[in-house]
Amino acid sequence: MADILKPTDENLRNLREFLRLGGLLAVPTETVYGLAANALDAKACEKIFEAKKRPSNDPLICHVASYEALESFCEPNDVSKTLADAFWPGPLTFVLPKKDTIPGIVTAGLDSVAVRSPNHPVFRQLIEGCDFPLAAPSANPFAYISPTQAIHVQANLGDQIEYILDGGPCEHGLESTIVDLRDPAYPEILRYGALPVELIENAVKRRLLRPTRNSDHAGVSIAPGSLPKHYSPRTPLDLRPSAVSESELVESDQKTAYLLLRKPVNARANNIHWLSENGELEAIASSLFAKLRELDNAGYQKIIAEEAPELGLGLAINDRLRRASFR
Ligand code: TXA
Ligand code: MG
Repeated sequence: MADILKPTDENLRNLREFLRLGGLLAVPTETVYGLAANALDAKACEKIFEAKKRPSNDPLICHVASYEALESFCEPNDVSKTLADAFWPGPLTFVLPKKDTIPGIVTAGLDSVAVRSPNHPVFRQLIEGCDFPLAAPSANPFAYISPTQAIHVQANLGDQIEYILDGGPCEHGLESTIVDLRDPAYPEILRYGALPVELIENAVKRRLLRPTRNSDHAGVSIAPGSLPKHYSPRTPLDLRPSAVSESELVESDQKTAYLLLRKPVNARANNIHWLSENGELEAIASSLFAKLRELDNAGYQKIIAEEAPELGLGLAINDRLRRASFR
């Protein structure tokens, strides 16, 4: 079973050396926990795919301490500079043309690479002492719910890895937003995430191409790993486009869990759960994955969840819920 390690100076020193020698390590970020390896070491990165049972055609994100670190392995441009000045370190990933320094396994053979600089203090402490980027997907088994606490990683991947670096619960609770900047004239959102697209559009002063609502992401220009079924509990999940009525809650049977966006006014029973007090999107996002796990482990036969409003973080919340409900 993996050891959950506190971020002491000594542990961080040892873990950097462990990574340098090709080890695999779960790390906290401000979005979700990642499963990290030295991105310049093809053998180490192979272990990521094995541990997650991730198909080899699904490329990894490379994490860096600073924008300057990009030069050695990809080709930044004016738009990536503008966006990094505005949002890095933070939950925004760029897809850029890659250089040969990054092994093909990391990018699934693509000629582009995804890059991001996380702002979690523990992650930053770790990576600032590394002289290599860290390739890291979310630290969940392929297609299951992403981990937002060290114990989530231990529950699912504890037998596959040796160490989990504990950075507490993740602040955002949803993965980074991914923007394709290969052609800086036509930036395109590949995945909704913790940084609302409206903020990105304000920074680049234009509207961006966005993923289509029912896209199964099987096309060419989009994130190859964005499958229709993802982030999925084992328990079947039904998604409601509008709020569940109080009368439905009152009459509901105990085998069905209700996952509401906000605390209900009257109805209270053990099968009724909520993601925020008053519908705040930040609170909903940060508790979503943890709550889905809790309900998935509670023996319900079905989960009924409500869709968020289609704007800001609501776009990312609904993207995760729709994939979680896909059957
Ligand atoms: O917040 C996050 O982004 C977290 C933390 C750990 O940083 N990472 C994460 O990684 O969500 P992962 O592997 O679960 O999702 C990365 C997505 C995948 O859908 C993958 O297909 C896409 O990024 N991706 C990676 N490289 C790409 C590329 N060169 N072109 C297009 N999409 C790419
Ligand atoms: Mg993932």
